[in-house]
Amino acid sequence: MPERVITNDAMEKIVETSDEWITSRTGIRARHHAVEGEYTSTFATAAARLALSRANLKPEDLDLIICATVCPDQALPSTAVLIQSQLGAKKAAAFDLVAACSGFVYGLTVASQFISTGLYQNILVIGVEVLSRYVDFTDRTTCVLFGDGAGAAIVQRSTDANRGVLATRIQSDGDFAPVLYIPGGGTKIPASHDSVDGRQHFIKMKGNELFKVAVRSMEDTARQLLDEQKMTINDIDLFVPHQANQRITDAVAERLGVSLEKVYSNIAHTGNTSAASIPICLDELVESGRLTPGTTLLMTSFGAGVTWGGILMRW
Ligand code: ACO
Repeated sequence: MPERVITNDAMEKIVETSDEWITSRTGIRARHHAVEGEYTSTFATAAARLALSRANLKPEDLDLIICATVCPDQALPSTAVLIQSQLGAKKAAAFDLVAACSGFVYGLTVASQFISTGLYQNILVIGVEVLSRYVDFTDRTTCVLFGDGAGAAIVQRSTDANRGVLATRIQSDGDFAPVLYIPGGGTKIPASHDSVDGRQHFIKMKGNELFKVAVRSMEDTARQLLDEQKMTINDIDLFVPHQANQRITDAVAERLGVSLEKVYSNIAHTGNTSAASIPICLDELVESGRLTPGTTLLMTSFGAGVTWGGILMRW
């Protein structure tokens, strides 16, 4: 049975790597892996229950559940409806959203549109991944990077005109699809003995080709959002980028000129949890008292697709 917390020392026993390489190239010291009996919907439901209790809501109050993930429990039905059933959220519509590491930013953007139109009042947005079930533990270039996790948020109309989502932006460029993908398991390469023998069901990534695009797109998004609101980076209290690599976070922060104490990073103990990374950061920030009403927050994301985006909000 796998261990829950996988340190870099533990990784050294799995593939030819070193704590020194992983720490200096990525900033990661440990990541969490789901254990037997845990999978995407169980992670997501636990995060959702926490979000509901903090928002003082019952599952029946939910109008919509958006589950951002690239790690569904199974191909059919969506993981969102499995979460709906586990929660007992009888009234809610539910669907999955596939945007890799940008999933939570995409999900919040979609949710904020439904709130703006007045169609829905209470929307649950979950970012969840169990990538440990998709990484190839013989491939040191990917298996050291990813961790499992979930985070959830309830989106409602703000009663205070000065608080809430100020601006959102989501973008994608499918020309980069071959740089980060899982070849098998879909309609193009259905599961077969050959696909399993050929390790086609695992993540393939050209990490160094993504590095520059990640930095550039997150920087551009941040600038566009700030320009749109006629704000500067100095107006931001907290910058929460997707946690892909500490060097990517540092490079984006440096280009934007955001002071280091405003940049949140937890990659050292989470690894890259893809769609779960930003909501896990938000949870840690709320728990530690750093994210309080009135905080001006900038989030940016980048992931497979490639997809990217950002949200500027006043908490
Ligand atoms: N341990 C030891 N050595 C390693 C490891 C490892 N775990 N992994 C790679 N190496 C070696 C390589 O084999 C290579 O050796 P060589 O020079 O002898 O050929 C050397 O280290 C350098 O490899 P690079 O890939 O060039 O290393 P780089 O500095 O680019 O770091 C990394 C790799 C961490 C993947 C980085 O490129 C990165 O973070 N890229 C961005 C990833 C990203 O943003 N992904 C998108 C989000 S994920 C999502 O959407 C699900």
